[in-house]
Amino acid sequence: MTVAEELPETPEIAQEEPVKQRKNGLYPGVSDELAENMKSGWADTELHDLQPIAQAAETRARRAALSARFPGERLVIPAGNLRTRSNDTDYAFRASVEYAYLTGNQTEDGVLVLEPVTAADGTSGHRATIYLLPRSNRENGEFWLSGQGELWVGRRHSLAEAEQLHGIPAADVRELPEKLREATGPVRVVRGHDAGIEAALTDKVTAERDEELRVFLSEMRLVKDAFEIGELQKAVDSTVRGFEDVVKVLDQAEATSERYIEGTFFLRARVEGNDVGYGSICAAGPHACTLHWVRNDGPVRSGDLLLLDAGVETHTYYTADVTRTLPVSGTYSEIQQKIYDAVYEAQEAGIAAVKPGAKYRDFHDAAQRVLAGKLVEWGLVEGPVERVLELGLQRRWTLHGTGHMLGMDVHDCAAARTETYVDGTLEPGMVLTVEPGLYFQADDLTVPEEYRGIGVRIEDDILVTQDGSRNLSAALPRRSDEVVAWMASLKASVKG
Ligand code: GLY
Ligand code: MN
Ligand code: MN
Repeated sequence: MTVAEELPETPEIAQEEPVKQRKNGLYPGVSDELAENMKSGWADTELHDLQPIAQAAETRARRAALSARFPGERLVIPAGNLRTRSNDTDYAFRASVEYAYLTGNQTEDGVLVLEPVTAADGTSGHRATIYLLPRSNRENGEFWLSGQGELWVGRRHSLAEAEQLHGIPAADVRELPEKLREATGPVRVVRGHDAGIEAALTDKVTAERDEELRVFLSEMRLVKDAFEIGELQKAVDSTVRGFEDVVKVLDQAEATSERYIEGTFFLRARVEGNDVGYGSICAAGPHACTLHWVRNDGPVRSGDLLLLDAGVETHTYYTADVTRTLPVSGTYSEIQQKIYDAVYEAQEAGIAAVKPGAKYRDFHDAAQRVLAGKLVEWGLVEGPVERVLELGLQRRWTLHGTGHMLGMDVHDCAAARTETYVDGTLEPGMVLTVEPGLYFQADDLTVPEEYRGIGVRIEDDILVTQDGSRNLSAALPRRSDEVVAWMASLKASVKG
């Protein structure tokens, strides 16, 4: 009998999803002596007097706003679970944005629960508890024989440490399903992250009420607080450095493929942040016309444009989303520059339309108007511009919306209602991208040959301020002459 088989009864959550036991082909058996030996001889590493995380005050304020919206109801917000990538290896874990936003914690299997409480003065509120997996048990061998054992996955915070860090009472998540099954009163859960938790609530929740919770949490994130704006600026600053890295290695990319660009940017993202916020689009030549080109396996040729759409995600999950369309050689050809400058003009018009009180749609309309005008001027579509816009004829070449909210998701606040987002009004603290583009497919016979295979997008991250807007990505040149000068100095810095 192995020690693994002697593990005590697994708690509820583990019964539904059995804890993986490490199978080691080289050492299949564990003697009783070894099992006994592994129980002891370990130092006490409990950490005391931990400082709260940087956003502890903000997460408390966010929980308070959530509490006020759903008085008297139990709210369950799971982080989610690891997902298998292959056999016994998992994808890198990323906690649900709802959970991370409300706790600042990012641990797999974690769950935030807000229990309704009534204070002595009769006011109703909630008591928050963060449910987490505690430190691994050494007595039953879990810490070295279980797939979730700390010896395999790394040290976890104890529940007491988690309380200090997050300012939220912590409890053992393995006890939560039973508690939820026994709970009475109205309850809502954020769906789609933790099937085990949802199963425990299955006869207590409805899809409609759960959706209201998800929508509220998405709309809460439309206006960013000061911590979030700081994180977005950090994400953008790292992204700017990542773009500089790429320009410096364009020679190596020419000698290999777009993958060299992807890898170069990824290095910056992993060293300075958590990850890239989305698959980097490293699109050279005609690949720029494929909007989500993430295969990145094509050649990089001097004379072509490189459309690089990439963003670093910070350790707290805030991502930049920036695009520059760069001439691989360092200078734009005449036709490339003509198209680039048109997109720049459209972006300028779009950015100018971002201000508090403006309709969300205004910046899109402003950019589309400029692009439609250029297409008419170039004889690619019959005017007048008003007709083109009314029929949407410019969209053959503009293809996508001119931007979106930005935050913990690259396309942030996606569950927000139309009336609060797309049909809504801009407010200070919102952060959005402005990213017009023109794309002439390589096989588009309706345009002269010189246009074909050219795709240009320029994308910046814009904060709505009290009196207008601030371009968080202004450090990265946009105007074509500034891009050329910037590339020249970076290329020279490598040679020199
Ligand atoms: N990177 C995807 C987008 O710009 O929306
Ligand atoms: Mn974008
Ligand atoms: Mn983008």
